Amino acid sequence: MVKVKNISKQYKIKEKRGTPIYIDAVRDMTFALESNKIYSLIGESGSGKSTLSRLLTYIEKPTTGKIWIDSKEVTSLRKKQLIKMRSDIQMVFQDGKSALDPRQKIYDSIAEPIRNLTNINKNQEREVIEDLIDKVELPINILNMLPSELSGGQQKRILIARAMSVCPKFIVFDESISGLDVIIRKRILDLLLKLQQEYKSTYLFVTHDIDAALYMSNNIMVMKKGALVEKALGIKSCNDFNHEYSRKLINSHFI
Ligand SMILES: Nc1ncnc2c1ncn2[C@@H]1O[C@H](COP(=O)(O)OP(=O)(O)O)[C@@H](O)[C@H]1O
Ligand SMILES: [Mg+2]
Repeated sequence: MVKVKNISKQYKIKEKRGTPIYIDAVRDMTFALESNKIYSLIGESGSGKSTLSRLLTYIEKPTTGKIWIDSKEVTSLRKKQLIKMRSDIQMVFQDGKSALDPRQKIYDSIAEPIRNLTNINKNQEREVIEDLIDKVELPINILNMLPSELSGGQQKRILIARAMSVCPKFIVFDESISGLDVIIRKRILDLLLKLQQEYKSTYLFVTHDIDAALYMSNNIMVMKKGALVEKALGIKSCNDFNHEYSRKLINSHFI
C-alpha cells in the first residue's frame, strides 16, 4: 500500500532582483493506492505527473507532506535507510536511449539494480536475468548486445526487465510507452499486464494517452495544475467520473 498525505513540490525558478519565483508543480495531494492494483494517472502536459512520479520514487523529496510505503514512512528516512527501501520501488522512464548506458551491455544494465540493491551472488544473478529476459519475451543473445543494437520496443522491454529485477512492490511508469507505434505499444501494455499478474506489484501508470490509461486500468487518477482532481475507481465510461474536467479530458481522447 502506498499512502500520500498533503504532499506538495515547489520549484524555485529564477530570481528577479533577489526575489525568487516559485512554481507549485504538485499541490497538497492526498491519496492511497492499494497493493496489487493498477492505477492510471492522466493529466495535461505540465499538470505535474512527472513531478509526482519522482516524489513517489524518492528521486526528489516533497517540499511538504508525507509518503508511506506499506507502513513505513519514507519521507522521514535517512539516506542509508532509504537505500534499503529502494528495491521496493522502481520507476520506468520514457526514453530507453537515455535510460540505458550506451557503452554497457544489456546484461550489465539489467544487473545494475540487482548488484546495487540485493545480496544475490553472480550465479544466481545470471539465472535471474535469463529468467527476466524470457519473461519480457526477448531472445537470450540480446544480453550481449549494446542498447544501440536494439529497437525502441526492445529497449522498453529491457527497462521493464531491469525494473522487475528486484521484484518491487510498487512501480511507476512515467510515459513508458511514448514514442512507440500503435502495435508495439499494445504489445508492451499486454506485457505489463501479464507481469503485474505474475509479480502482484502495484502499478502507477502515468500517461497522456487516454486510451492506454483505460486499457491498463479502470482506476483513474486525474491531475490538473498540480492537484488531484479525482481518483475514480471502477470507471467503465467517461460518465462514471464525478468531475466535469475529467469527463472533458477523457472525451478529448488524446490529450
Ligand atoms: N526541475 C524543475 N524545475 C523547475 N520547474 C519544474 C521542474 N520540473 C517540473 N517543473 C515544472 O513543474 C510543472 C509540472 O511539470 P511536470 O511534472 O513535468 O508535468 P507533466 O509530467 O504532467 O507534464 C511544470 O510547470 C514544469 O515546468
Ligand atoms: Mg511528464
